[in-house]
Amino acid sequence: MAYTSQSSFFVFFALLLCAITVSSDDESYAKILIKFKSSLSNATMLNNWIEPVEKLCNGYTPKWTGLVCDNGTFTGIKLENMGLEGTVDVDSLAELPLLSLSLMNNNFSGPFPYNDIRKLGKLRTLYLANNSFNGDIPDDTFSGMKAMRKIVLAFTEHTGPIPSSLSSHNASSFAATLQVSKSYAAHANEMGIRLQKSY
Ligand SMILES: *[C@@H]1O[C@H](CO)[C@@H](O)[C@H](O)[C@H]1NC(C)=O
Ligand SMILES: *[C@@H]1O[C@H](CO)[C@@H](O)[C@H](O)[C@H]1NC(C)=O
Ligand SMILES: *[C@@H]1O[C@H](CO)[C@@H](O)[C@H](O)[C@H]1NC(C)=O
Ligand SMILES: *[C@@H]1O[C@H](CO)[C@@H](O)[C@H](O)[C@H]1NC(C)=O
Ligand SMILES: *[C@@H]1O[C@H](CO)[C@@H](O)[C@H](O)[C@H]1NC(C)=O
Repeated sequence: MAYTSQSSFFVFFALLLCAITVSSDDESYAKILIKFKSSLSNATMLNNWIEPVEKLCNGYTPKWTGLVCDNGTFTGIKLENMGLEGTVDVDSLAELPLLSLSLMNNNFSGPFPYNDIRKLGKLRTLYLANNSFNGDIPDDTFSGMKAMRKIVLAFTEHTGPIPSSLSSHNASSFAATLQVSKSYAAHANEMGIRLQKSY
């Protein structure tokens, strides 16, 4: 008897802990997303980012505009065609379980915070196309990002050489496909990087 009630107490307690853990993940991601959003401007399309939210995903459908959901799990951010400007707060993004990040077709300008992109260690795809991001991409930007599969930089205003952190990995070990602007493509060919058609 004592054993039974004790073990059922433990089962109950374990389930309770699970429930707390599951809901608090999404709740803390929500807080981080709100912080991320505060560095953006013209983010009127994100007006439904309102706390409290218990779960960010309902199956494959996000509760908030621009999130990516995989069978109930929040896995990415897809903010496209929203007229967004401002700063990309990578430190906040680094606290999220992101497999994908797309900021395509917005109005970001100036440098992208490439120095911090490696903090997104699980990232598989990065889409920055059609923004006015400019300046060089530091040479070691993508080094060690083993999950990275695709980087799309078409129609940005980047200059300078293709980072060797991309060219030094070959397609089988890194498999990143770089889509770049026209001026970038010339560099890429010199360095033997495979490009998808991007212009
Ligand atoms: C989706 O999640 C449910 C519950 O966690 C699971 O039973 C189901 O197999 C998953 N479906 C897919 C396609 O992963
Ligand atoms: C602000 O965003 C809207 C769409 O949400 C867009 O139509 C508008 O051009 C943007 N404004 C600027 C200044 O980028
Ligand atoms: C915003 O970006 C869109 C798509 O990239 C572009 O057509 C538009 O001219 C930009 N607007 C401003 C105000 O920069
Ligand atoms: C960039 O924007 C142009 C014009 O708005 C569009 O035709 C093109 O498909 C966009 N490129 C990408 C990679 O989204
Ligand atoms: C690329 O990968 C292949 C297969 O793993 C390997 O045989 C080849 O030596 C690698 N090339 C370079 C330049 O690392």
